[in-house]
Amino acid sequence: MDNISYLRVSVTDKCNLKCYYCRPDNLEFIDKEEILSYEEITKLVKAMTKYGLQKVRITGGEPLVRPEIEKLVKMLKDIPEINDVAMTTNAITLAKHAKSLREAGLDRLNISIDSLKPDLFYQITKGHLSDVIEGIKEAKKYGFDPIKINAVIINGVNENEALDFVKFGIDYGLEVRFIEMMPLGQGQISWDLNMVKPLDKVKENIEKVYGKLVPSESIGSGAARVYEIPEFKTKIGFITPISNPFCDGCSKLRLTAEGSIKLCLRTDEEIPVKDILRYGSEEELDNFIKMVLVEKERSNANIQESNYQFSECRRVMTSIGG
Ligand code: 5AD
Repeated sequence: MDNISYLRVSVTDKCNLKCYYCRPDNLEFIDKEEILSYEEITKLVKAMTKYGLQKVRITGGEPLVRPEIEKLVKMLKDIPEINDVAMTTNAITLAKHAKSLREAGLDRLNISIDSLKPDLFYQITKGHLSDVIEGIKEAKKYGFDPIKINAVIINGVNENEALDFVKFGIDYGLEVRFIEMMPLGQGQISWDLNMVKPLDKVKENIEKVYGKLVPSESIGSGAARVYEIPEFKTKIGFITPISNPFCDGCSKLRLTAEGSIKLCLRTDEEIPVKDILRYGSEEELDNFIKMVLVEKERSNANIQESNYQFSECRRVMTSIGG
């Protein structure tokens, strides 16, 4: 690989929701000193621009629980080569942050919602859907566009809500993306294939009501296959890591909150960079990035050889954020 196009930056392993499939009961948090500072994150991002980095996504845990997250948004936006800073959030406290995030220069928002039924939302997350809806309204008010909704569709849980999500997207002017459940970490349950709703079935059901979906494009949609409902101009995306993997040509890299580069969601391979950021020279950092490019290429080749298997992943989503 000779180019880094996109980096996802996890800024905390803490989350203000407790989604049962994502977050284990006995989660231990990382010590504060082990978490990268905003300066350290910015230093790495700057160094990566030399290799083509232009887009950064801030994730968590839940990124809005990290104090003064707006500061990081601004620091990243101040790097001339970085033209797109996005965030994935559960929107529980977005109403409070929407204005300041916009002012700091945040370009785009992805919001995770797994149910539009308040009771089921609470059962899944132990949080309140009304907070999320307030957050979406505030984000729209301050001009975030597009706003994408991410819904993990789980058999036997929310599989019947796909059409409700589409209607929600149409009503609120949002892009909706459905995601297949991946075998990552273990929340309070262990993953099995029966939980996965293959999204081609979901697409068929949507087409029964809205007619044929038309292939479309969407900024920052590396992993999603995106379509449009022509009548409403609403975009619907499908992220299918299980039924139709999208590993070919993946140049996505992730930075964990405690400062390691994670090469791929499907494996536990991580390469620590914290000590180089804290104590190393510019040259060492540059050499590290060159090494990551080589390792990413090797990891991609391995994954294709393994027929896109997920290996046993220890890292839970609360510490890598999608
Ligand atoms: N598979 C797919 N998506 C997941 N998420 C958390 N765990 C999984 C999983 N095992 C999603 C959350 C949120 C995003 C950050 O990652 O629901 O939308």
